Amino acid sequence: MGKVTFNMTVSLDGFVAGPNDGPEKGLGDGGDALFNWYFSGDTEISIGSGSPMLKVSSQSARIIKDAIETYGAGVWGRKTFDIAGAWGGHPPGSPAFIVTHSAPQEWVKEVSPFTFVTDGVESAIRQAKNAAGDKDVVVCTASILQQCLNAGLMDEIHIDVAPLLLGKGVRLFDHLDIKPIELERIRAIAAPGVTHLGFRLVK
Ligand SMILES: NC(=O)c1ccc[n+]([C@@H]2O[C@H](COP(=O)([O-])OP(=O)(O)OC[C@H]3O[C@@H](n4cnc5c(N)ncnc54)[C@H](OP(=O)(O)O)[C@@H]3O)[C@@H](O)[C@H]2O)c1
Repeated sequence: MGKVTFNMTVSLDGFVAGPNDGPEKGLGDGGDALFNWYFSGDTEISIGSGSPMLKVSSQSARIIKDAIETYGAGVWGRKTFDIAGAWGGHPPGSPAFIVTHSAPQEWVKEVSPFTFVTDGVESAIRQAKNAAGDKDVVVCTASILQQCLNAGLMDEIHIDVAPLLLGKGVRLFDHLDIKPIELERIRAIAAPGVTHLGFRLVK
């Protein structure tokens, strides 16, 4: 059985998007700078036809390649799905589970890249684990991470720290209802334009 991991880019002050995020302004006011590291290197890497070609440093490319190899299934919240325009039907990882209160009917079809989960995060992780087999389930949005932490479902947290202070926006660690959780650092890589950090939850 693989692990349940998390991965997102975060500003040094803990935001995954600036204020006023939405379909018209993806990562919100000032938030696009979070992703500068994806487009400022010399190594091209594709994470799927629904996402732009990345150009990252060789250090970051190795990390992304590892993540692609161990990817078994991904879990996103509906807000990111909507902001990304459903990635044009090509999510950055497949299979893709989307947690929502109501499934968008245009994507509910026999052959769809998305499975919509309307009965909560525990169900989403269970279904994603079944799909992933021996590979990892990757949680890719803040609200899903928070709920997974509250429910004791996470094994590892990987964050790519962008050299940026956003001041306000969507907080990575919000709405937590946990007892203190000890972490073991498993990665700290200072790559050009980004610091890759990884932690294992001590259980
Ligand atoms: N920095 C990065 O690496 C990065 C990467 C991707 C995205 N982003 C940005 O990060 C932000 C993500 O925001 P977020 O984490 O607050 O939102 P999110 O997880 O993408 O989506 C939250 C939505 O998911 C649905 N949902 C979540 N939990 C649910 C549950 N238990 N039951 C039913 N539905 C549930 C609800 O939508 P409904 O009620 O509408 O169903 C909820 O409003 C966006 O601005 C996005 O653009 C950043």
